[in-house]
Amino acid sequence: MKFQVLAVSALSCVASASSVGRKELEAPTAYDALDVFRRATAQAPNGYAPEPVDCPSTKPSIRTANGLSSEEKSWLQKRRPNTVQPMKEFLARLDIKNFNASAYIEKHKSNATALPNIGIAFSGGGYRAMLNGGGAFAAFDSRTPGSTGAGQLGGLLQSSTYIAGLSGGGWLLGSIYANNFTSIQNIIDRNGNGDIWQLSNSIFVGPKDGGLQILSQADYYKNLVDTVTSKEESPGTFNVSLTDFWARALAFQFVNATDGGPAFTWSSIQDDDDFKNANNPFPLLVAIERNPGETLISTSATNIEFNPYEMGSYDPTLYGFAPLKYLGSNFTSGQIPNGEQCVRGFDNAGFIMGTSSSLFNQVLLNIGTQDVPAIINNAIQGILTRIADNDDDIADYTPNPFLGFNGRENPSADVSRLTLVDGGEDLQNLPLIPLIQPQRKVDVVFAVDSSADTVEPMNPVSAENWPNGTSLVATFQRTTNRTMQNGTAFPYIPDVNTIVNFGFNNRPAFFGCDANNLTTNASSPIIVYLPNAPYVFLSNTSTFDKLAYSDEERNAMLTNGYNIATMANSTLSGYEDWSTCVGCAIISRSLTRTGTQVPAACKSCFTKYCWNGTLATDTPAPYFPEMKLAAIKIQNGVESGCYFSLFLDLKK
Ligand SMILES: *[C@@H]1O[C@H](CO)[C@@H](O)[C@H](O)[C@H]1NC(C)=O
Ligand SMILES: *[C@@H]1O[C@H](CO)[C@@H](O)[C@H](O)[C@H]1NC(C)=O
Ligand SMILES: *[C@@H]1O[C@H](CO)[C@@H](O)[C@H](O)[C@H]1NC(C)=O
Ligand SMILES: *[C@@H]1O[C@H](CO)[C@@H](O)[C@H](O)[C@H]1NC(C)=O
Ligand SMILES: *[C@@H]1O[C@H](CO)[C@@H](O)[C@H](O)[C@H]1NC(C)=O
Ligand SMILES: *[C@@H]1O[C@H](CO)[C@@H](O)[C@H](O)[C@H]1NC(C)=O
Ligand SMILES: *[C@@H]1O[C@H](CO)[C@@H](O)[C@H](O)[C@H]1NC(C)=O
Ligand SMILES: *[C@@H]1O[C@H](CO)[C@@H](O)[C@H](O)[C@H]1NC(C)=O
Ligand SMILES: *[C@@H]1O[C@H](CO)[C@@H](O)[C@H](O)[C@H]1NC(C)=O
Ligand SMILES: *[C@@H]1O[C@H](CO)[C@@H](O)[C@H](O)[C@H]1NC(C)=O
Ligand SMILES: *[C@@H]1O[C@H](CO)[C@@H](O)[C@H](O)[C@H]1NC(C)=O
Ligand SMILES: *[C@@H]1O[C@H](CO)[C@@H](O)[C@H](O)[C@H]1NC(C)=O
Repeated sequence: MKFQVLAVSALSCVASASSVGRKELEAPTAYDALDVFRRATAQAPNGYAPEPVDCPSTKPSIRTANGLSSEEKSWLQKRRPNTVQPMKEFLARLDIKNFNASAYIEKHKSNATALPNIGIAFSGGGYRAMLNGGGAFAAFDSRTPGSTGAGQLGGLLQSSTYIAGLSGGGWLLGSIYANNFTSIQNIIDRNGNGDIWQLSNSIFVGPKDGGLQILSQADYYKNLVDTVTSKEESPGTFNVSLTDFWARALAFQFVNATDGGPAFTWSSIQDDDDFKNANNPFPLLVAIERNPGETLISTSATNIEFNPYEMGSYDPTLYGFAPLKYLGSNFTSGQIPNGEQCVRGFDNAGFIMGTSSSLFNQVLLNIGTQDVPAIINNAIQGILTRIADNDDDIADYTPNPFLGFNGRENPSADVSRLTLVDGGEDLQNLPLIPLIQPQRKVDVVFAVDSSADTVEPMNPVSAENWPNGTSLVATFQRTTNRTMQNGTAFPYIPDVNTIVNFGFNNRPAFFGCDANNLTTNASSPIIVYLPNAPYVFLSNTSTFDKLAYSDEERNAMLTNGYNIATMANSTLSGYEDWSTCVGCAIISRSLTRTGTQVPAACKSCFTKYCWNGTLATDTPAPYFPEMKLAAIKIQNGVESGCYFSLFLDLKK
């Protein structure tokens, strides 16, 4: 996300004064809720509060980022072999003419270096990105009924090694990984009140009570306040910010547990049987380091990754990783001082998702200025004023685990407060940095881009909230900064005008097909760019103004995403070769490594989908994409713009 909230408008709110949310807020329970907002006193520590514990016999420490963690390395030794069988079946189905893909994988199966290594990336963009990405996720997932038919891509997920998400894309991954690797199908099959992805109530209204969420709306707010307060009051120096409220609210939508699972941690994913056995790809979430109020530029911002074992960065400006499970401990120069305890529970799953999407917490600041009854408003404002001034648009990682670490290069080495923000704030709205690290040796990244690039002010005026390649350009530019590239490479990416003029923002395109023509001599994956476009639904919903979706709208977004990924199961006119060409992108780098001739079918795929280096930099015509297939008609939508109709301004 790359917008700064400048002002709040009440203009579009009149219509929704009668919305469900408003009515519920005015119900008597809201008055009973007054007590709720008194600051709790002697609270028992609960799941959201980080807690001192005895350190394990090998004390946790910060490591230098000069390689993958030993945990990730040993995990990969299970994962790579586990992808062999799914990949054989998947590639065979993709049917590359005159090339026996199954035999090829079989031939190289005992040598992971030779095998294709697949990554997937889901961009930010709020619920739009979560749902559009979710449709693509379902298309890649062989567990989705019907996904392994002709022209389809079910099995790509099972063949992948890494999967990355950012902001709304992080909500998608969090919803899957924090819930025992559930599936999109399972999520939409369970439409009961209180189940996850019940988006018809915005986070301001809170979950419909029922199912696992037994809370009334007042209790919902009380829960948010109590859990955040418990963190603030727990022994130690934990500074809470708006992101903590945001995180707790998100958890009610994305963590399938009573009360939004305050005790769920991101590091607990490492203990899931499925994860331990490396049955699924390695999940990565991205955030950025930024001081409150500071403006970021993509070429120099430190990108932070969260994986189930660690958080940290391969960027030279940090170049270290902290053990996620023990975040919140007082690391000093990489070590925990003698005689001090360790801390557990800081890495709350909602908090990690909230950090990656922390731009949105600004939305919370606006709750009071809108239709919310004064009584609730005042209580919340009181809390907000206490914990944060309006510039404090960050996730607070005090105590800074990298205090005193890598002092020469790390600009935050001497501060006790580490502050992180939304992963897309540096315009890199696709989480590609973790996937281009050379040690990870990823060959191809399927990059689902649901960015809202085409926004006002824009000349010429276009339809809003569609991607135009800005995120790819940002990562490309960053890898041309000699300091920040730090051993990485990236494909050449043309300017956004070229991307739009050639239609690369409207249908899939490949970048970096030639392994020998990259920004540096290091290796980089091919980027298979899958831009959000209208196949069956106008999926350019607003990032900030559309915060509620009926089940019908939600499912239409998912179906659109499914069609983007599969090009309507390779039935879209002119794209009948799509699934075959996906296979070609997957094996391309591997063919080069093993000195295998490129099949003729793949050569024509590359001619068709790869950017060939030609530019077309003239200002493109206004972009008003046409629906590609018969549109889904929605009978029951929900309105959701009332509480936070925002005037947004581009932050360049
Ligand atoms: C591909 O090779 C395998 C042997 O590895 C063979 O069993 C299979 O029939 C071949 N498939 C085709 C389509 O030729
Ligand atoms: C694609 O396949 C899925 C799963 O079989 C099916 O539900 C969907 O209708 C198909 N879409 C198109 C456009 O054919
Ligand atoms: C997690 O899902 C697997 C199926 O993938 C199932 O076997 C297992 O029982 C589930 N675990 C829990 C705790 O629900
Ligand atoms: C949520 O949890 C319930 C009970 O543990 C389980 O039956 C259901 O499948 C879960 N939902 C999802 C989407 O995983
Ligand atoms: C970490 O340091 C702070 C400030 O000195 C202290 O209050 C806190 O107790 C320490 N945490 C642990 C677990 O020792
Ligand atoms: C963080 O919390 C401590 C108390 O625990 C307080 O003294 C300090 O001012 C807070 N810092 C910020 C930046 O809010
Ligand atoms: C490149 O990155 C360094 C380190 O972050 C930064 O100081 C410098 O300004 C960047 N250069 C450009 C041209 O952005
Ligand atoms: C990356 O940055 C670190 C920290 O500055 C440095 O030690 C390392 O040599 C750099 N690696 C490459 C390949 O430039
Ligand atoms: C692409 O998006 C950027 C970022 O929002 C915008 O500044 C630019 O005008 C857009 N250009 C085109 C051609 O869409
Ligand atoms: C594994 O494959 C790579 C790439 O093809 C090759 O360079 C290497 O020699 C192979 N290793 C073995 C043990 O065959
Ligand atoms: C390069 O790609 C552009 C855009 O797809 C196309 O118009 C042009 O003909 C291609 N040039 C060559 C030499 O293939
Ligand atoms: C190949 O590299 C050159 C720079 O040497 C670059 O200008 C060109 O765009 C690249 N071509 C492709 C297709 O990436």
